Amino acid sequence: MAQMWAGRFQKDLDNKVNDFNSSIKVDGRMFESDIKGSIAHATMLGKQKIISLEDSKLIVKTLLEILDDIKAGKLALDPNAEDIHMFIEQELTNRIGEVGKRLHTSRSRNDQVALDIRLYLRDEVSATIELINNIIATIIDLANENKETIMPGYTHLQRAQPITFANHILAYGFMLKRDIERLKDANKRMNYSPLGSCALAGTTYPIDRDYVANELGFSGIVNNSLDGVSDRDFTIELASCSSICMMHLSRLCEEIIMWCSWEFKFVELDDAYSTGSSIMPQKKNPDICELIRGKTGRVYGDLITLLTMLKGLPLAYNKDMQEDKEAIFDSLDTLKQCLSILNPMLKTMKINKDNMRKAAAMGFINATDLADYLVKKGMAFRSAYKISGQIVAYCIDHNLILEDVPLDVYKEYSDLFSQDVYQYIDLNNATFKRTSKGASAINSVDEQIKILRG
Ligand code: ARG
Repeated sequence: MAQMWAGRFQKDLDNKVNDFNSSIKVDGRMFESDIKGSIAHATMLGKQKIISLEDSKLIVKTLLEILDDIKAGKLALDPNAEDIHMFIEQELTNRIGEVGKRLHTSRSRNDQVALDIRLYLRDEVSATIELINNIIATIIDLANENKETIMPGYTHLQRAQPITFANHILAYGFMLKRDIERLKDANKRMNYSPLGSCALAGTTYPIDRDYVANELGFSGIVNNSLDGVSDRDFTIELASCSSICMMHLSRLCEEIIMWCSWEFKFVELDDAYSTGSSIMPQKKNPDICELIRGKTGRVYGDLITLLTMLKGLPLAYNKDMQEDKEAIFDSLDTLKQCLSILNPMLKTMKINKDNMRKAAAMGFINATDLADYLVKKGMAFRSAYKISGQIVAYCIDHNLILEDVPLDVYKEYSDLFSQDVYQYIDLNNATFKRTSKGASAINSVDEQIKILRG
């Protein structure tokens, strides 16, 4: 099949070259953005009298028909077309002949592709934000249901201090909130129209770039024609936002994998969201979490693909840039897929409150509180810290927990100890007296939920 640009060529393209060169299998999904961009361009051409108003109207009407036909499944994308831009333009020309050939006046595929990808990704960003918001809502529900669920907080994966599950899970809510802010911020920089950059050097036609930008809901135009067609920073920014968000999901998944193990048994996944083993009948595996953790690597790979693809390119457009779409689409598709599956899994996950509490009751996670008790009675923190450490060593030797050490033993270490020490180091008390902002006390958790909702 002869290409639309076949003017100076004497031979058809070799089939293998056509397959290699064609991007429609990847960029076909941008058909709606492409048509919207062409409608805005054609309208501007008519308004500026670059083509007649009549031709402009016919082009717009036909483009809308093409859009309807693709959506209704009446018009299939030709897998042999070079890309979505060529396909739509060819279809337009098939339908209205010479008039269709006027659409490409003062336009290049270079600015067309730069436009389409921005329009397409703008919608993708909104869809991704919605999915992240759904998970934040689930996290808020989990926090509300677990304000009194005491669990051990860890550092170095060693039991450290008592916290509530509400406080723990809310940490992920705030990470995801930052992910949304990052996406919105990247979107702000992406939301400028490159259309009118043309191939690279602008045009001699009296085009109105601002009009087109406004029609398409952009904040303005890309100010430099070479930058307009060569900038793919926004794909890198979005792939980076996507990588960071995947990293957050992966950390959460890693914790859930641990919490599902017999060693922890803090949570149990719903049968619908776990898998069995082909040989070991007792197994219930957290495959979803493992896949999300695994796919994180692939999303990082997409980011590296984009950074590497761009780093050596001279201005302006180079065909290397066609590779951008496969990487950024994969990055956001994977993220969206992970977000969609994680949400119902979290919603149906059973929290084993008793097991969390049991684990919190061991491991001396109230040792800091024991030291704080002495500090409240007037001792310097370092000295109190040392004495508490010695009492912990005593407990380990005698197979006791701090709550069970007799008062006379406490008094051997310091005469500041009295009966009220037991109340002070009590697990509930130790957890809920942490009333500082951001901590586990119920008021602090309520405040966090309010901020996260806000
Ligand atoms: N399919 C191309 C891409 O995605 C469109 C731009 C082609 N421009 C060109 N001069 N070959 O990058």
